[in-house]
Amino acid sequence: MSRLVIDGLKRLKGETEVQGSKNSALPILAATLLNGDESILHNCPDLSDVSGSVNILRYLGCDVAFSGGTLVCNSKNLNKNHIPNSLMREMRSSIIFLGALLARTGSASMCFPGGCEIGPRPIDLHLKALSELGVVINDDHGVFKCHVPDGLHGAKIALSFPSVGATENVMICAVLAEGTTVITNAAREPEICDLADYLNSCGANVSGAGEGTIVIEGVQSLKGTSHTIIPDRIAAATLLAGCAATGGRIKLNKLIPSHLGGVLSVFEESGCDVSVRGSSIVFDSPHRLTAPKIIRTMPYPGFPTDAQAPIMAMAAKSKGTTLFVENIFENRYLHVGGLLRMGANIKVEGRVAVSQGVECLHGAEVEAMDLRGAAALIVAGLGAEGRTTLDGLKYLDRGYEKIEVTLSSLGADVKRV
Ligand code: UD1
Repeated sequence: MSRLVIDGLKRLKGETEVQGSKNSALPILAATLLNGDESILHNCPDLSDVSGSVNILRYLGCDVAFSGGTLVCNSKNLNKNHIPNSLMREMRSSIIFLGALLARTGSASMCFPGGCEIGPRPIDLHLKALSELGVVINDDHGVFKCHVPDGLHGAKIALSFPSVGATENVMICAVLAEGTTVITNAAREPEICDLADYLNSCGANVSGAGEGTIVIEGVQSLKGTSHTIIPDRIAAATLLAGCAATGGRIKLNKLIPSHLGGVLSVFEESGCDVSVRGSSIVFDSPHRLTAPKIIRTMPYPGFPTDAQAPIMAMAAKSKGTTLFVENIFENRYLHVGGLLRMGANIKVEGRVAVSQGVECLHGAEVEAMDLRGAAALIVAGLGAEGRTTLDGLKYLDRGYEKIEVTLSSLGADVKRV
């Protein structure tokens, strides 16, 4: 089993590119089922969650090749509509294959998806919305057996919460439905826009992505395409938090700075100098950070829940107190135990955490319990005195492509052993 060894307090400097977005790549990979043709995806990150999706695509009969950041999937020979439990349980976003399989084949069966244990993570919104498109769902002891007796038809779908996954599932299913689908209270994340761009490049007719109302005019069929996955805004935020924790100065290239809106203002509040130059950010952090006052996670364009953990690690060694309110997931403070071992002063009460910044963190043996928690412990390790060893890399590898190589190129002392 491998672990990361971090010798902290090496000031980050230099420049690097940001990886492709995990949360864009995963739904787009599921959507490659729709066209029965070739999809060429550039800037696809090499992650275990991407491998999980590729395993599902191959199991279903697709031809997939992945090298040098370009993934080619040909879904012409799709020949199954059941996904085995072992593949479903690898990750949460496997549920997006439900809408894709239904749209392509008219039936699908699969069990409840897996993923990080950051809360109960129900799929009721997905199932309700799909049933409004004409899907009949039978829950057979935890296996969803779904079919479309009278064909998929457009519908008015009002989501009670702007769920990212439910919005994606509906978009993917509705592009091949007959008639018009209108999703209100849709998620507005940049990854939704990227999915819409991919679908439209296949010949779909999706408008309004990035706004609260998405309109999908169903089409008969889709064609092959080539698409470039957007940069990963959470990986970018993680690198910036790591830089800030070391008082460093770095330049991040190949990103879309506007996607980091709510996060960049937190860095500025912390005393960092953030300068946006086209698709790059030049980032300079002070010797001692000022603790941001309050972080409330919200659906986009609010502060992203995925950045809460790495920012908490940064705040843990800032001057002052930060109040965190986690509004998206119920159990998203799994990193706090590790931060406490490293000398942080954080108290958690339900969805609220209060961090009283300490002068310095110290290295410790810690274990990640979820993906973004792993990122937080790396940020803390970078800014800590002495050696940190991080276990639980299976979580890290879900979402970060060789982060130790990226950090080493910026002057950090991080090794996978
Ligand atoms: C996606 C992201 C994840 C991010 C999250 C919120 C991917 C692969 N993952 O996850 O990194 O943290 O958005 O930005 O894109 N909910 C329900 N019923 C449902 C669906 C969701 O109650 O049917 C609840 C969830 O339990 C959670 C909240 O809605 O409390 C947000 O979930 P959702 O937006 O669906 O997140 P994911 O798509 O799972």
